[in-house]
Amino acid sequence: MIVVTGATGNVGRPLTQALAEAGEQVTAVSRRAAAMPRGVRHMAADLAEPASLLPALDGAKALFVLLSGDLHGPEARPGDIIDLAAASGVRRVVLLSSQGVATRPLGPTRVAMRALEDALRESGLEWAVVRPGGFASNALAWAESVRARGTVAAPFGDVGVPVVDPADIAEVAAACLLDERHTGGVYELTGPEVITPRQQAEAIAAALGSPVRFHELTRDEAKAAMTRFVPAELADDTLDIISAPIPAELRISPDVEQVLGRAPRPFKDWVARNIAVFR
Ligand SMILES: NC(=O)c1ccc[n+]([C@@H]2O[C@H](COP(=O)([O-])OP(=O)(O)OC[C@H]3O[C@@H](n4cnc5c(N)ncnc54)[C@H](OP(=O)(O)O)[C@@H]3O)[C@@H](O)[C@H]2O)c1
Repeated sequence: MIVVTGATGNVGRPLTQALAEAGEQVTAVSRRAAAMPRGVRHMAADLAEPASLLPALDGAKALFVLLSGDLHGPEARPGDIIDLAAASGVRRVVLLSSQGVATRPLGPTRVAMRALEDALRESGLEWAVVRPGGFASNALAWAESVRARGTVAAPFGDVGVPVVDPADIAEVAAACLLDERHTGGVYELTGPEVITPRQQAEAIAAALGSPVRFHELTRDEAKAAMTRFVPAELADDTLDIISAPIPAELRISPDVEQVLGRAPRPFKDWVARNIAVFR
């Protein structure tokens, strides 16, 4: 049995589906229950209280770890999840980390994530780490304004990065969970092309078949919008990255193709699968 945390999110949902389709027994974990693919068991746990994961880990051979939001802080003790997994008899752990662990190691969330990667390496378990760059699904933040006003409002409209489709992250994670040849793998995951926010809005418009206006926010406007949901330090950190990606963040990584034997999916594929949320 394989335990998938963050199972109702952008990555966890297609990962759960892929593992179930591969014939694996899957226990899907999140705090709130949700509809699951046929045969998948859902168990509620809060990773802020790692011990709450113990019932789900009973009998598990492998674990996918996804930390969300405030779980990145050192006070969340995510290293305990690795210890509990080892004590429960889990043999293999795949961690969803971040490209920023390599490209901007001193950032507020990356220090804790690097520590978690190190804990995993030293755990004695079989492990693999996936380090994605920016997700295509970050465009979901624009869904409401596209539906209501036909507008995408974002800062730095002409500064792009090679956003990665969460479905590709999920497929790579599934390969790492299922195939021991990926043990010790550290995979940087990007999409196939650099794409700007303005070009993403154009891709959404093309899929809708109706115009989408791009409204460029100033950095201060974007920060004001973000700090309704995240602390100012995290908003500044994100804005620093998306305003001035460094060459390592613009590179098209070969790792999706190396693991899956096919090119990563372009942004327009993600839009095509998710167009309903923009209508
Ligand atoms: N977005 C990006 O550009 C980007 C780039 C690099 C790395 N990442 C990393 O990707 C991860 C986010 O992946 P995602 O987009 O798939 O996530 P997501 O769509 O935001 O979903 C989060 C999942 O985690 C669950 N969850 C949240 N808090 C939890 C808690 N305390 N205990 C148990 N489950 C919890 C959620 O369900 P409930 O709310 O019901 O619990 C949900 O299933 C983060 O680690 C982030 O650092 C993101």
